[in-house]
Amino acid sequence: MVSQRNFPTLAPTIEWRDGDLLLLDQTRLPHDIVIEHVADAAAVWRAIHELRVRGAPAIGVAAGYGLCVAMQDARALPVAEFRAELERRAAYLDSARPTAVNLSWSLKRMLRRAHASDARDSATLYDALVDEAKRIHAEDIALCEGIGVHGLPLIEAGAGVLTHCNAGALATTGLGTATAPIYAAHRAGIAFKVYADETRPLLQGARLTAFELQQAGVDVTLVIDGAAASLMSQGRVDLVIVGTDRVAANGDFANKIGTLGVAIAAKYFGIPFYVACPSSTLDFSTASGAQIEIEERGDAEVTHLAGQRVAPQGIAVRNPAFDVTPHALVTGFITERGIVNAPFERLFEAEGNAA
Ligand code: MRU
Repeated sequence: MVSQRNFPTLAPTIEWRDGDLLLLDQTRLPHDIVIEHVADAAAVWRAIHELRVRGAPAIGVAAGYGLCVAMQDARALPVAEFRAELERRAAYLDSARPTAVNLSWSLKRMLRRAHASDARDSATLYDALVDEAKRIHAEDIALCEGIGVHGLPLIEAGAGVLTHCNAGALATTGLGTATAPIYAAHRAGIAFKVYADETRPLLQGARLTAFELQQAGVDVTLVIDGAAASLMSQGRVDLVIVGTDRVAANGDFANKIGTLGVAIAAKYFGIPFYVACPSSTLDFSTASGAQIEIEERGDAEVTHLAGQRVAPQGIAVRNPAFDVTPHALVTGFITERGIVNAPFERLFEAEGNAA
């Protein structure tokens, strides 16, 4: 069994226990620790779509196991039918959310494993899929550690580090991406301060980042999104580290809505702006940020707060869940291979998301 480390106060984000997929319901945090047993394809789709499991790397790990769950009732089918169902159910899971490349990356990898297998029965093919999902999971933990190693030197004693959304342990199955250097610096005994943007509308910064850093004993201060530029103007922020859902070949990247404003402010104030991600988030099949599909979510996330309407009835609403930050605003990408920059091709030849 692969299990999450370094975040011992909570249940793991994702757990595969004897054929059962268990997800920590992130919509209930920080108040309730609720573990959901996800038992069929529709439940996996809903868990991803409704953000009970969220954050690009965690979505990728959940999709690998989720495809196994989706195929459990197909194990008695003849192998040709199992393969046809596998393609169909993978396409269905892939439709749960559009922006994080890790979802399609993980599902494509699962399908490649099936294509490479010469299994003559469906049960053997299913076992190969479970093995691949476990590999994706184990790699995610290791990738986060690597990001931590390469990001650690960026955090100096006394520094102020600002982050947006949750690219933390909860968004992965390891140390997180943006938080990996933070946890590494904390482990190394460096005294520094983190500012966590609350991240409207779903408050991943307030509910998740502030929570997990506080649980880990990191010095974290929660701020509203609109305070980030002001903190920078006061000299309180020395470094910005965010995560990403997809990096285009030219270095433009998508992340939680509001990231673009943080990047523009950081550029204005001359503050280094880093993006932390595993190489699996690099999407070479997307030439630039203009081609990244941005998820639009429902109006109620904007018109309501904690179930209470805060906007007039009938108001027009736009609710893009992500924005695209141009490469020109990025100081560097902290990956498991080191701090890199576009063009990435030569650095990650066989490892990124080929078309
Ligand atoms: O809508 P969410 O909560 O899935 O958005 C998450 C983010 O934008 C994260 O910053 C991104 O997925 C990177 S997670 C390591």
